[in-house]
Amino acid sequence: MSLVEGLFQTPGSFTLLGFLLVLGVLYLFSTSKKQRNEPPGPRPWPVLGNLLQLNPRRLHVNFFELSKKYGSVFTVHIGCKKTVVLAGFKTVKEALVNYAEEFGDREISPAFYKITENHGIVFANGDSWREMRRFALSNLRDFGMGKQVIEEKIIEEIQYLTEEIGKYNGQPFDNRKILHLAVSNIISSIIYGSRFDYFDPLCQEMIKCINERIELLGKTAVQVYNFLPCLGSLMKDWRDLMKSMKTCTDQIKAMIKKLQDTLNTEDSRCFIDSFLIRQQELKKSGEQNFFTEKNLIFSVMNLFGGGIETTATTLCWGLLLMARYPHIQGRVREELTRVTGSRQPRVEDRKNLPYTDAVIHEIQRMANILPMSVPHITSCDVMFQGFHIKKGTTVYPLLMSVLYDENEWETPYTFNPGHFLDKQGRFIKRDAFLPFSAGRRVCLGESLARMELFLFFTSLLQNFYFTLSSGLSEAEFDAIAANGFDFSPPLHQLCAISQA
Ligand code: HEM
Repeated sequence: MSLVEGLFQTPGSFTLLGFLLVLGVLYLFSTSKKQRNEPPGPRPWPVLGNLLQLNPRRLHVNFFELSKKYGSVFTVHIGCKKTVVLAGFKTVKEALVNYAEEFGDREISPAFYKITENHGIVFANGDSWREMRRFALSNLRDFGMGKQVIEEKIIEEIQYLTEEIGKYNGQPFDNRKILHLAVSNIISSIIYGSRFDYFDPLCQEMIKCINERIELLGKTAVQVYNFLPCLGSLMKDWRDLMKSMKTCTDQIKAMIKKLQDTLNTEDSRCFIDSFLIRQQELKKSGEQNFFTEKNLIFSVMNLFGGGIETTATTLCWGLLLMARYPHIQGRVREELTRVTGSRQPRVEDRKNLPYTDAVIHEIQRMANILPMSVPHITSCDVMFQGFHIKKGTTVYPLLMSVLYDENEWETPYTFNPGHFLDKQGRFIKRDAFLPFSAGRRVCLGESLARMELFLFFTSLLQNFYFTLSSGLSEAEFDAIAANGFDFSPPLHQLCAISQA
């Protein structure tokens, strides 16, 4: 029986055939993008859009490939949803910086709206976002971001971290958990005013909850909810996500309560204290304001969520890349020995460590941990590079296409610290280095992250020599494991051989 004969054998097949016919007719009669002057892109099928051409787990790679065919501004239909992708350094920078207002709002999908209701920083827009972002930035600065106070906290944490890693005595270990705990303690000391012991059950529980949430947010259930919210409660992953959100919220509420009970309005100990003090001041003055409990909970959640996974994952990539390229690791150690000897590296040493600085930048470029950034949305109709993009269109600034832009980087797909060095071996800044994005949504924790990466990386390399324990093959090494929004290195173990 031929396929066509087979199709006509059952009533179900008639329905399927009818459906395909309707799709075909709609496909043929859909208005062309050219007429509407919209960015070009692959022709979408009704309802399915371009889903048949996309792999939801590797959207960033699909988009990168499509940019080679359709140019730096193109349209992709994810199901019924029209999405514009911005690719390449020049285009991404122009959109986020020169059209900051038009491209500066956050896309808040129904799933995220259900969770945050426009509270906090990452998934919020408008006056509430502006106020929370401004408050968080100025407070992170007050509590030491980019200053010596936080440098001391990071250095203190490094002592605990190196001690812990030393306990493995050069035996293989999974470094991800310990790096997450160390990085989490830096944010904890800013937000709660204290660090946790690595074995403190509450600390472990908090990290587990954040990782679980990131993983669940990457599940298909979230896409299904966005498409048809009424199906949410039928899906286990969605119910688990709601449960995990509740656990995280309860943990944060308990921490807030503890601080509230001992609050001294004359002496703020941390971010939460400052928020509570501001809340009290505004209450007294009777002003309408955004300093609500929900905004505090979601801001705290965003600072933890945004600050731990990103920094710890970059450090994981860094150590893995050093184990993979021992000659580069050797050059970093040689420079460190020459400049700092055996004393603790400090931020001010950075200017005398150009090779090490270049290696850290190259790690961030290659690691490409947020390849599609966090989606934006157009706040109004906009004419951009001759194309008309409607208000409310989802926009992906494809950071991967910036960090791997063939017009900007000499060897985009190869780990090459030379990207950040001039002929004399001096460090050079590169415009296309945008792992933190740009414009009004640029990463709020950039200077903290840069300080952490520098101090953790240099101290670890000074104390240990890292090797791969189970010889990851190059193919395995290059495989990127999808994990929610950002991308972690493939599972691996490292040996840390003490250099003391
Ligand atoms: C290596 C480390 C990090 C990287 C690569 C990174 C990267 C990014 C990127 C690409 C965005 C999205 C920007 C956009 O929408 O255009 C972002 C946003 C954000 N990041 Fe980071 N980040 C890092 C560390 C941190 C840290 C340490 C914190 C907290 C202290 C933090 C807090 C945030 C917040 C709150 C936002 C949302 C900003 C907004 O929507 O206004 N990040 N980050």
